[in-house]
Amino acid sequence: MVSSTALPADIRPQLGGADFIAPPRGRMAREELLAEVAEADALIAILRDRIDEELLDAAPRLKVVANVAVGYDNIDVDAASRRGVVVANTPDVLTEATADLAFALLLAAARRLGEGERLVRSGLWTGWEPGQLLGRDVAGRTLALVGLGRIGAAVARRARGFSMRVLYAARREAAEAGELGAERAPIADLLREADFLSLHCPLTPETRHLIGENELAAMKSTAILVNTARGPCVDEAALARALAQGEIGGAGLDVFEEEPRVHPDLLASERAVLAPHVGSATTTARRKMAETAARGAAEVLAGRMPTTAINDTAINGAAANPESERG
Ligand code: GLV
Repeated sequence: MVSSTALPADIRPQLGGADFIAPPRGRMAREELLAEVAEADALIAILRDRIDEELLDAAPRLKVVANVAVGYDNIDVDAASRRGVVVANTPDVLTEATADLAFALLLAAARRLGEGERLVRSGLWTGWEPGQLLGRDVAGRTLALVGLGRIGAAVARRARGFSMRVLYAARREAAEAGELGAERAPIADLLREADFLSLHCPLTPETRHLIGENELAAMKSTAILVNTARGPCVDEAALARALAQGEIGGAGLDVFEEEPRVHPDLLASERAVLAPHVGSATTTARRKMAETAARGAAEVLAGRMPTTAINDTAINGAAANPESERG
C-alpha cells in the first residue's frame, strides 16, 4: 500500500499496481497522514509533510519515503535510516526550472518589476519619465553563488550569457567551475563583492541563518539577495531590517522561514520581489518530479535501491547516489 499526498492519478500505474489509499492530489492534515501511514509500505511526500520520529513510529511497514522535491530538510533522514527506511528525492528534473526562477527574481529585483507592476495596476502611472524606477545593471556585474551544485551551476550558466563575473562558495572545488568560469572564494569575499548574491545550498544546521545581520551589513548597499533555496537560510527579520535601512538594495525571494507566513516588513518592502515557492513550478518539471518520486518508491517496493536514494550508504553501505546535495 502506498500513501501519497502528491501524485497525479496517471502516474500511479508506475508504482507497479501498488494500492493507493490517499487522495491523488492535495494536502493531507497531519492527523490524517499519521493515521494513513499505519498501513503504508511507501510514502510519496511533499516538502510540507514533516517526516519525523513520530511519523516513522506510526508507520511500522514503511520501506520508502520518496520526497517530491530535491531538498529533503522536511525529513529526519537519520531517523529513517535507523529504521531501514529509504529516503529518495527528485534531483536533476527541476534544475533548469529552478535556475530560471532564480534568474527571473534576480532580474525582477534589479529592474524593480514588482514596484513597476504595482504602479501600472494602481492606475497612478502618469507615463514615461526619465528618472522613473531606475534599477541596477545586470550585465557585467558580479554574481556570487552560495553552492555550485546542480542548480547553482545552472544559474552560473545563465550568468555567462549576461557577461557576469561569477564567484561561488562551496566546501569543495566544484568540478564544473572551470568550464563555467566560476571562481571559488570564501563567503566573506562573496558578501563584499557581490552585486547579486544567490543561495543554492541545502538547509542544514550549518546553513540555517547563513545570511543574518552581520552578513547583510557586509554586503554592498546596492546588492540584491536572491533566495530560491530554503527560507531559514536567511534571517528574515534581519533581511527586512536591512532592506528598510537601505543596507542592501533589494531581494528576490521564493522561499520563507515559516511558509506560508511572510515577515510583515517584507510584505511591506517595495524592494523585495516575492514569489510563493514556485522554483520548480513548470508543468514539465513538476510532472517529472512526480514520476521520479514514483519510480523511486516503486524501485524500493521491488527490492532495489533507487539511484535517487539519499541514505543508501547508511542503509546498506552502497553509494548509489553520491551527489545528493540540494542544488
Ligand atoms: C523545492 O523546493 C525542492 O526542494 O524541490
